[in-house]
Amino acid sequence: MKKESISLETQLSAWCAETFAACFPGVDLSTIPLAVIPSRNEEFGDCQCEAAMKLAKELKTNPRAVAQQFKEKAVLPAFVEKIEIAGPGFINIYLKTAALADQLTAMQSDKKLGLPNLGKNQTVIIDYSSPNVAKPMHIGHIRSTVIGNALDRLYRALGYNVIADNHLGDWGTQFGLIILGYREFADAEALKTAPVEELERIYVKSYNMSKEDETWRDRAKAELVKLQQGDKENRALWEKFVELTLSEFNRIYKRLGVSFDFYRGESFYNDQLAGTVARLKKEGLASVSDGALVCDLEADGLNVAIVRKSDGGYNYTTTDIATVISRTAEFQPSEIIYVTDERQQLHFKQFFHICKKIGVPTKLTHVWFGLMRLPEATFSTREGNVIKLEALLNEAEARALEVVKTSSPGMDEAQQREIARAVGIGAIKYTDLSQNPQSLVTFTWEKALAMDGNSAPYLQYAYARIASVRDKYAAQFPDKNPDDFPIILTEEIERRLALKLTRFPAAVVSAASLDRPSVMADYLFDLSQTYSSFYQNVPFLKADEGPRESRIRLCALTAAILKNGLALLGIETPERI
Ligand code: ARG
Repeated sequence: MKKESISLETQLSAWCAETFAACFPGVDLSTIPLAVIPSRNEEFGDCQCEAAMKLAKELKTNPRAVAQQFKEKAVLPAFVEKIEIAGPGFINIYLKTAALADQLTAMQSDKKLGLPNLGKNQTVIIDYSSPNVAKPMHIGHIRSTVIGNALDRLYRALGYNVIADNHLGDWGTQFGLIILGYREFADAEALKTAPVEELERIYVKSYNMSKEDETWRDRAKAELVKLQQGDKENRALWEKFVELTLSEFNRIYKRLGVSFDFYRGESFYNDQLAGTVARLKKEGLASVSDGALVCDLEADGLNVAIVRKSDGGYNYTTTDIATVISRTAEFQPSEIIYVTDERQQLHFKQFFHICKKIGVPTKLTHVWFGLMRLPEATFSTREGNVIKLEALLNEAEARALEVVKTSSPGMDEAQQREIARAVGIGAIKYTDLSQNPQSLVTFTWEKALAMDGNSAPYLQYAYARIASVRDKYAAQFPDKNPDDFPIILTEEIERRLALKLTRFPAAVVSAASLDRPSVMADYLFDLSQTYSSFYQNVPFLKADEGPRESRIRLCALTAAILKNGLALLGIETPERI
């Protein structure tokens, strides 16, 4: 079996932990971050450890003295050139250049480019996209789809058994109103051409009527009760609404390259709600208040969560608790990750807290993001944040086509269109993924499609250029195989690029463990910039044999990492742009 290549920083972190333990026997180091991280500034070595400062604070002593003690005790690993103490007590680590070359050689011979199998035997459920039946997706669902799918890909790449579950909002009191409205005023033509919009129109109209007209309200209620009791006709109508909505959403998922293992909507857990509430009551967590059953979480600063309304209906919190219990029993996941917009933070805190109190062992994580600001002029907006997603994707592809026509005027039109699809969709996704999801982002086409900034087209173009150097070499030296030559890092810029390349696995691990695809995007952008100065500063095809092959190997590895890294964000890399 092939040995997994463990990143140099991971090995160094373990080494630092051991050395500190040897220096300070009896001191509890469990709260001190001992990790070795890439140096913030290249002048200060390749990587660094900040533990001496943290430890000195704990021991109330001088940090430089702590670092000095470390240095005296340290037995350097074979791949370390030297360590130095700097500033207030940084331990700066300089790697042997040959060790970097070895690391790259190992990465190159590994299909997974050195990614560790962190998730072995662990299941992670990612609950994402999760739009509502009979309502259009809003910008929050789109961001959830794109961010959730990137997390899905990152975790899978690290060997986790990922279950992507689309937790559709497919149950609730609205269905009584929709069934009644559908019977009374559905527009058959509109249902064919724009089903979700028509269902929404029916819902809104029926809802407004229920506000004014008591008889209407009672009739809707009766339809709901019939549905809940399993009435055949109402059940069939409900199924039709789900189907119509999903067929529209699936078109969008297909364009985005997103797929799910399950589409278990809220209705899937419906018959578990009464049992869930009974359990909460039995454990003393729920009590009656104003006719409703509530979990009082005031003492924990989380307000009050209703788990059964005064009319006997269950709600979002109840369903989510039942869902956690069900998923935990069926899949024994180590973690469930939920991706939604920021407005649901309290909801998640509440039911996570309740789940913990009833002894659910699963780690529950809410990955939330802010809403993206869409300039009015750019998209047809409704109610501020509802956009027509398909129109947005069409526009992205049309604008990307202009870009491709300029960059590859001679190419045939079908190919231009195919590339424009990858570039347009990539641009939309990357805009979402490259930002800190919790900061307010304003979308502009200029930024999304910029060829010279931190954008998908820039990275896709970089990939195509790099791949073409590799291909030119193959055409010019058909009987040579660069892999028969060693990687040699003589120029400073070569070494810098090599160091960045070795960090691909660490970037993936960190993006997944922080649930931040933007970490991956930052890494790829930084890598492509470093490559660009490498490319400008050393000869490639004109270099002597030896350095030439080594450079082609660096070039091939950069291309492989860009391709794989972008794939982890769900972004395609055409060979030409
Ligand atoms: N359907 C919900 C909405 O549109 C999102 C569901 C998120 N997932 C969950 N398990 N609560 O707001």
